[in-house]
Amino acid sequence: MDNLDQLIQQAEGEFAAAADSAQLEQAKARYLGKSGSLTERLKGLGKLDPEARREAGAAINRVKESIERALEARRQALREAALLAQLAAEALDVTLPGRGSAAGGLHPVSRTLERIERLFGSIGFVAVDGPEIETDWHNFTALNTPENHPARSMHDTFYLEGQDEVLLRTHTSPVQVRAMQAHVARFGHLDSMPELRIIAPGRVYRVDSDATHSPMFHQVEGLWIGEKVSFADLKGVIADFLRKFFESEDLQVRFRPSFFPFTEPSAEIDVAFMSGALEGRWLEIAGCGMVHPNVLRFGGIDPERYTGFAFGMGPDRLTMLRYGVTDLRLFFEGDLRFLGQFR
Ligand code: DAH
Repeated sequence: MDNLDQLIQQAEGEFAAAADSAQLEQAKARYLGKSGSLTERLKGLGKLDPEARREAGAAINRVKESIERALEARRQALREAALLAQLAAEALDVTLPGRGSAAGGLHPVSRTLERIERLFGSIGFVAVDGPEIETDWHNFTALNTPENHPARSMHDTFYLEGQDEVLLRTHTSPVQVRAMQAHVARFGHLDSMPELRIIAPGRVYRVDSDATHSPMFHQVEGLWIGEKVSFADLKGVIADFLRKFFESEDLQVRFRPSFFPFTEPSAEIDVAFMSGALEGRWLEIAGCGMVHPNVLRFGGIDPERYTGFAFGMGPDRLTMLRYGVTDLRLFFEGDLRFLGQFR
C-alpha cells in the first residue's frame, strides 16, 4: 500500500515538473498509459485470489482516481498559465498615443497658394492658369523683352530640344498677356471694359539649384488693369495682403526701386518682421510695378486709356518664412517626415 501512496506522490511530482501539455501527457502515459505502472498493476490482479483481488483492485482504483485528479488539476493549471502568457504577449496598452489616421494633407506650398488665392479672392481677384510649356513670345517678347534683350539673360531658361518657339516658362508673367488677350476677346467690344483682376499661381522653371533655388519653383502673378489703377493701389493691395498673409499687423513693407522690362516704374517688395528669429531683417519677396505700355499693347489694351499694376511673388519663399523652413529643397523631396508636420 505504501508503494501505491508513493506512486501518487511520484506522479504528482512529475506532473508538477511538466512545463507544458506535451510533457504532461508523456508523464501521464508513464502511469495511466497502456504499459503505465498503474495499468501494469491492474493487469497483475488476475493472479490474485478473489478476496485479495477485490481489496487490491479497490486500492489501485483509488490511486488511479487520485492520479487522474492530479493530472486534471495540472492540465487546468497549464491551460491557465498559457492563457495568461498569451494575454500578456498580446496586451493592449490603452495609454499609448494613437497611431493617427492614414489621411494625407495638403503640401505646405499648396496651403500657401490656397491662402493667397483666398486673400486675393476676397478683393475680387480671380485665379487663372497658364501653360507651363510656354511660347517664347508670351514668356519674353510680349513682356517687352525682345530677342537679344539683355534682360533675357536674367533667366536661365530651359529650352526644348529642337524647338525654338517653346520653352519651360521662367515666370508666371506670360499669364498676364494671356489674361489680357482673353479679357479683350470677351469685353473689347464694350465702350468701357470691366476691370481685369487676376492672380496666376503655378510652377516655373529655371536652370538653378541650391538650398534656396530649385529648378522648379512656384510663383504667383498678380494683375489689376482698369481706367485709374495707380501705384498707390499697388502699395495698398500688397501691404494689406502681406499683413493678412503673415497675420502680423506691424509687418513692415518696403518698395525698393528696381528694374523689370515689363513694368515701369518697377520695384522690389521687401518685408521685415517685428519679432521672431528674422526680426528687423529686410527680406525680398516679390517684384512689381506699373504694367509697361508695350505689354498692354501686346495684350490688346490701349495704354492711353487703361493702366494697371502687376506683381510676381515667390510662394515658396513665403511658405519658408511663414513656417520657419530654411532649406527650399525640403519642399520638393517628398519626405513624409517633413511634409507630415503640415497636416
Ligand atoms: N516675373 C518676374 C520674375 O520672375 C517677377 C515680377 C516682377 C513679376 C515684376 C511682375 C512684376 O509681374 O511686375 O522675376
